Amino acid sequence: MSTYQATVSAPVNIACIKYWGKRDTKLILPTNSSLSVTLDQDHLRSTTSARCDPGFEKDALWLNGKEDEIKPGGRLATCITEMKKLRKEYEDQNPNEPKISGYSVRIASENNFPTAAGLASSASGFAALVYALATLYKLPSSPSQLSLIARQGSGSACRSLFGGFVAWEMGTSVTGTDSFAVQVAPAEHWSDMHALICVVSDAKKGTSSTSGMQRTVETSELLQWRIKEVVPKRMKEMQKAILDKDFDTFATITMRDSNQFHAVALDTDPPIFYMNDTSRAIVAMVTELNRVSVENGGGLKAAYTYDAGPNAVIYAREKDMKEIVNMVCHYFPLLASTQPYEDRFKLFSAGEK
Ligand code: PMV
Repeated sequence: MSTYQATVSAPVNIACIKYWGKRDTKLILPTNSSLSVTLDQDHLRSTTSARCDPGFEKDALWLNGKEDEIKPGGRLATCITEMKKLRKEYEDQNPNEPKISGYSVRIASENNFPTAAGLASSASGFAALVYALATLYKLPSSPSQLSLIARQGSGSACRSLFGGFVAWEMGTSVTGTDSFAVQVAPAEHWSDMHALICVVSDAKKGTSSTSGMQRTVETSELLQWRIKEVVPKRMKEMQKAILDKDFDTFATITMRDSNQFHAVALDTDPPIFYMNDTSRAIVAMVTELNRVSVENGGGLKAAYTYDAGPNAVIYAREKDMKEIVNMVCHYFPLLASTQPYEDRFKLFSAGEK
């Protein structure tokens, strides 16, 4: 009897154009396209091992050492079933390969950062899960093909199958076959692009993205404007800005899109607040830094963005990062002193997968 095993890691990604809203909640088809930067593997990542063995009685999964229930028909079950289907197809096409698609799997996943605190843990988690099974099953699938399955675990996970700058094209089909991630540019294309994560709070978020999105889709009129009139244009402008390494445009769209996402959350009934006073103070600091730079004849230096939580991500070029870190430490000494420095501020370059 043989056991098959694979271990992989996947990093988090932070969106510059936010995904918020599903048009199909089961297949996880979004109401708009989105675009993100995948961070490097060193700090925020999920490491996942997958095993299959004829002796395992059922599929099982441990997250950070604790067993998680795989609910029938739920997202974990969907991803595992879809990956087993791909393996079965592969076995049918390659009769000499071992028939392991029918075996149960055991999966163990660890995040090296707080789970569900608005630090994109579901993105790296589901990307690592799908990638671990693809490696275990020796599948020849491309990252875009795997992103179709990771998407059904957590929408944003489809973007973590690639490094660098990544777009998730929303697609138009009802079956979801054209809703997948593509790489806009690899990390080395714009290697001085860095991200600073300011961990304002590592508490679990109050409103999950699933229930928040549903409420927004049901109640926000602003969302309808955003998905029709705003995002399609921004997707084009942002891809051009990345290809041109145009930081001013990149920063402007990133900040405006974060603001609009949080405005849409506020336009939801009842309203959702993800940012807190510290988050807003960081917005004011970045705004002032940029204002002074532009007034002195320079361009924008930094771009803030916030996901479904209060933690700030600041994109900036490497040459400006020291000044930004010093500024954050100066204006937010509590942030800098209540926890070891490494736990509060995390500095990344755009990562390779
Ligand atoms: O993939 P989810 O369900 O965790 O939703 C992610 C939503 C945001 O992080 C707020 C935006 C995004 O595009 O990542």
